[in-house]
Amino acid sequence: MDKWADWLLHKRFGSDPAIARDNLARLAMIRDRILSLAAINEGETVVDIGTGDGLLGFAALDHVGEEGTVVFSDISQDALDFCEGFLSEGLGNGNARFLCTSAEDLSAIPSGSVDVVVGRAVLLYIAHKEQCFREYFRILRPGGRLAICEPINRFAAEMTASKKIFFGFDFTPLGSLGDRILSQFHFPPDYTNDPMLNFDERDMLGMIRSAGFREITMQYEASMRDNLKWPSWQAFLKSAPNPTVPSLAEVAAGFTPEEAQQFEAYFRPLVEHGTAVQSYAEVYFRAEKR
Ligand SMILES: C[S@@+](CC[C@H](N)C(=O)[O-])C[C@H]1O[C@@H](n2cnc3c(N)ncnc32)[C@H](O)[C@@H]1O
Repeated sequence: MDKWADWLLHKRFGSDPAIARDNLARLAMIRDRILSLAAINEGETVVDIGTGDGLLGFAALDHVGEEGTVVFSDISQDALDFCEGFLSEGLGNGNARFLCTSAEDLSAIPSGSVDVVVGRAVLLYIAHKEQCFREYFRILRPGGRLAICEPINRFAAEMTASKKIFFGFDFTPLGSLGDRILSQFHFPPDYTNDPMLNFDERDMLGMIRSAGFREITMQYEASMRDNLKWPSWQAFLKSAPNPTVPSLAEVAAGFTPEEAQQFEAYFRPLVEHGTAVQSYAEVYFRAEKR
């Protein structure tokens, strides 16, 4: 299984039902918000870019009805196979198509053939975001809509980087072991070359406008939550914050016995008593091709 599908299906919730339940409830609200911005009509053709395990695509099927089409598009064939498997078990209708390609190259989709492009948490992994927006614009028909949501990881990084805070915890007391762990998680942050950190919501707004979109609206949300509690030490170890980095358990597999003991002695009480502070931001865009 490729890293994208592996993360989506195994690592993002640390194999913990309580984390999965909380996060799926949050994701459902985000999904509904994106689809509300998209205002999909029956009979329309929708492309879900970077569909993953189908968060937006499956719900879009309900909106387009019998006459419409939803294209589940992703760079991960494993993720698409998962979505297709779900549908073949009778959970969707027959109007789904599957396209394995990068968001930067949608040449399999004819120009002007799509009513709505949706996507969530995809562009932050892609270096050439401008090219993606040009492709989205090209495949949309005149009057077509774009509705997306992207995390702005730069927000959390800027709030916490100087204090070596990651996963909501301060790594400073772990000294060189802490630095070694952090180096596997985009730390120190590279605001110039890391595609997950080298943009913010205003950069993205500019890219959408430059691609040709008009009637653009942006909704930016940022939060800092205190005393975040993990359901268990094991869940904390097994979860990875995104598909490009390992889980802490994978990093800890390389520790000496002394390092493993130092790591657990410091972190376990913090995790179990719920002292994490989580900073998070995301941006929603709706735009039209005029
Ligand atoms: C964090 S997941 C989000 C999945 C889904 N949109 C959701 O909100 O649950 C990121 C997705 O982007 C996909 N992806 C990564 N790079 C991509 C690219 N260059 N083009 C298209 N999809 C990509 C991954 O395979 C993965 O499914």
